[in-house]
Amino acid sequence: MSALPQSSPHFRPMRATDLEGVVAIESDVYSHPWTLGNFRDALSAGYSCWVLESGGTLCGYGVLMMGVGEAHLLNVSVARSRQREGLGRQLLEFYLQRARELGARAVFLEVRPSNVAGRALYASSGFREIAVRRNYYPAERGREDAILMGLDL
Ligand SMILES: CC(C)(COP(=O)(O)OP(=O)(O)OC[C@H]1O[C@@H](n2cnc3c(N)ncnc32)[C@H](O)[C@@H]1OP(=O)(O)O)[C@@H](O)C(=O)NCCC(=O)NCCS
Repeated sequence: MSALPQSSPHFRPMRATDLEGVVAIESDVYSHPWTLGNFRDALSAGYSCWVLESGGTLCGYGVLMMGVGEAHLLNVSVARSRQREGLGRQLLEFYLQRARELGARAVFLEVRPSNVAGRALYASSGFREIAVRRNYYPAERGREDAILMGLDL
């Protein structure tokens, strides 16, 4: 087997040594990013944390929390320079498959109403809008609602 980094994007579990790179992407793509501590907590809590790597470089990641019979997708992110290449959809499909394998019958997530790319990705993958959580997210001015979306697996 070759020891060279694979150049086509592939998934592997997130490690503590990835966290600096993950947070660099996170801080670039969100106005209110998760902190390194948030990711460390997600890893220690045993959440399903994976990265998408290409040529030895991180290009995306996600975090999935399992509940009884359902999963909550807490984070799906693609590095700005790698967006619109289909990686976000790959990440989402990967996680839907993980959720199925881990016994979920439904997946839920929250998204900001202002997140046009996220909402389009989820809607085109079959997620439906279930509810609005008022004042859920911090925002530039005050708070922003969250749209709760769900998909039956
Ligand atoms: C949302 C995000 C993960 C999409 O990743 P991506 O790799 O750019 O997405 P893809 O190239 O796989 O595109 C998948 C679909 O997303 C939608 N989409 C992606 N970027 C879009 C944009 N800028 N505007 C509108 N729709 C967009 C489209 O429906 C697209 O399908 P199409 O290519 O058939 O039109 C990415 O924009 C991102 O990381 N954003 C910052 C973090 C974030 O907001 N995550 C979601 C939090 S809920």
